[in-house]
Order: sequence, then structure tokens, then C-alpha cells
Amino acid sequence: MLPKTFYWGAGTSSYQVEGGIETCDWAQAAREGKVPACGRACDHYNRYEEDFDLARKLGHNAHRFSIEWARIEPEEGKFDEREIEHYRSVLMALRARNLEPFVTLWHFTLPTWFAESGGWERKDAPEVFARYCGHVVEKLGELAVHWSTINEPNVFASNGYVRGIWPPFVQFAPISRARIVRPVLENGEVNEEQVLTPFRYFKVRRALMRGHIYAYKVIKKVHPTAQVSIVRDIIVFDSTRNPIHRVRAWVMNWHWTHSLMRMIGGHYDAIGVNYYFYNKAGDRAKYPKSDMHWDLVPRQVTQALQMLQRYKKPLYIAEAGLADHADKQRAWYIRELVAGVEAACAAGVDVRGFMYWSLLDNYEWAAGFGERFGLIEVDYTTLERRIRPSAWEYKDCIERRT
Ligand code: BGC
Repeated sequence: MLPKTFYWGAGTSSYQVEGGIETCDWAQAAREGKVPACGRACDHYNRYEEDFDLARKLGHNAHRFSIEWARIEPEEGKFDEREIEHYRSVLMALRARNLEPFVTLWHFTLPTWFAESGGWERKDAPEVFARYCGHVVEKLGELAVHWSTINEPNVFASNGYVRGIWPPFVQFAPISRARIVRPVLENGEVNEEQVLTPFRYFKVRRALMRGHIYAYKVIKKVHPTAQVSIVRDIIVFDSTRNPIHRVRAWVMNWHWTHSLMRMIGGHYDAIGVNYYFYNKAGDRAKYPKSDMHWDLVPRQVTQALQMLQRYKKPLYIAEAGLADHADKQRAWYIRELVAGVEAACAAGVDVRGFMYWSLLDNYEWAAGFGERFGLIEVDYTTLERRIRPSAWEYKDCIERRT
């Protein structure tokens, strides 16, 4: 049984849906032809009320979104109060619809000035990030309880500093060559300047964790009642009984999940869990696949949640979902995920919410607009929204439990 006060909703992130963000590293990379352009995306910046009406209609009582750092601090140390007011209106629009806001302060995109001055490799990156977080929460803290500092630190660090497919496109050559990844340059060459050692990756991970701790402290200072979390990218590394596979799974879970939790000590009040991947060493099973060829193993969300139980904090599914343009597998996938969450609760895990990814179709980073994660389909020419059948099934799933 899920708790009566369970939060049900879906998520988005600023760059992926808002449109019109030109002052961040991804926009710069798009101008340089390294990633697809994002342009006006879903124009959610102007249409958020309409979108929240749809979320409400679909039975949601919560919504996760992110604030765009590049809008709030377009120049180093200069905050744009008009953009604060914009997000104040967004938060009020959620409140007016009884949608509990889950606010993420940073979801992958960096202001250009920050990226160009070294990004997370800057010496003072953690302080600079915390200053931005403190400013936002000081201004808007009374409108939300749930604040997350960082979304998926490992995904950011590995795509940006190992695989080299996201800004700042740093590739760790041995790994990059061993895998099929989008080449950094249009002509397929690797930019040798960017090929470096894994040290930068580890340095960035450390800086991110320090950024989280500093932000946590600043937020608690300006708003002691804020519930501050980090959103973790949980890959479940599992194994057969084979001892080599078991060691591999243990090492990978330690590296991917627990080492970062260890780095931030007790500096979090809750943990956001993003679950997409289950990786079982020695596994021969064939799983259904999403449009992105990701294995669909929804029930193992239970294991993802159980892995985090040892941290003894409330957990929220901050993201779980799939690319499925034909909407053939989404309803099944959501039902299975929810059953997996219920199984975790039955086993004593403190899970308090489930946010499907995503409310709307959106910009899927280096994969552009082709991949369709939304409960709501977006026609990028007319910007028309169409509710997918699976979104109604999700609504049923919610209603049966409330
Ligand atoms: C990210 C989202 C992304 C989703 C699907 C997560 O890694 O937080 O921004 O769209 O996965 O790839």
C-alpha cells in the first residue's frame, strides 16, 4: 500500500520544454552544430498554465520542473529579477491547481559565462552554484517545500567528460573508441584537445558533490523548512550467481550510486530517484525495448529503491519513463513501474511520490526532438498538445490508489 499522501505527477526540465533559452552552453553547442537546436521547444515558458491544466485533468497532484540558471543569472553575479518573477508565476500557477511543486535548481544546462570560465572545473564552481541556489530559494522559498539541487550528477559527468557527447564534449578516448557514440566533430574526428584522462571526470564529480553540499547549506539557511534533495540517476547493476559477475555488480553499484552518496554525507532531506536502466551481468534474458533501444525492465524499480533504503530518507521517483512514439508500451510500463514502487513500499521502503518522465514530449538532449517521452504529445509545428491514451491509463492507476 502506498501512503495516502502519495504524490503523483510528471516532470519536465527547463531547457527541454521552455524554449527561447539562448544563453546556456547547450544553445552555444547547437550554434556550433554539435547538438540539435532546441529553439522554442514546446513553448512551455509561455504555455505553462495550459500544460498544468492538462496535468490536473490527468489526475496529478504534483509536478516536477526545473529553473533555468542561465535565465536567473545571465551574467556572473547579476540576477534577473524578471525571471524570478516568471518562476514565481509558475509556482503560483501550480499552487492554484493543487499541484505540489518539486523544483530542481539545475538540470544539465549551464549559463554560457559559467561554462566558458571552466564550468564545474572552475575552482569556485561549488560556491558559485550555491550562490545561485541561495538566491532563488531566498526569493521563492515560501512557494515550495521540495527543492532539488542537482539532477543526475553521474549522467552529466559521464556524457560530458567521458563519452564526450554533451557539453563540454570531453572524451576519454579509450572508452569512447570502444563504444559507438556520436562523434564530437561533424567530420567524425576526435578533438584531441578534448581527449584527456579520467581525472577530469572524477574532478567534476567531486565538484558537483561539493556544489550540492554548499547549496544544501545555503538553502537551509535562507529557508530552514525547505526539504532539500539530490536527484540520483540509479542504474541497477545486478548479477547472476557467478562470483565475477557479483563483484562487477558490487563495484559498479558502489561507483555509480553509493560513492556519491558517501561524498555528500548527511546533507539531504530526501532523495529523488531516476530509474531507467537495469543491467544484469551475465543476463541472457531478452527484454522489450523502447524507441531508444533501452531495455524495459520496470519491475526492477523496486531494487533501485531498495538500494537507497540504507540512507534512511524519504525517496521520490523523480523520473521514470520511456520513449514510445506509438504509445504502445507506455501504459503497461507505467503500471509495472507503479507495481514495482508498491512492492518497495510493502518491503518497508519509504517512497512518497512518483513522477513519470515526462509530462510533455520534449528535447531529448543530443537525440533532439525525435524521441517521444510525453504523456502529452506535442506537435512542434503547431504546438498543439494531444493527450496520449496512456496518460488516461496513468490517471486510472492514480485514482485506483487514492
Ligand atoms: C534526464 C532527462 C532525460 C531523460 C530521458 C534523464 O537522464 O534527467 O532530462 O530526458 O533521462 O533520457
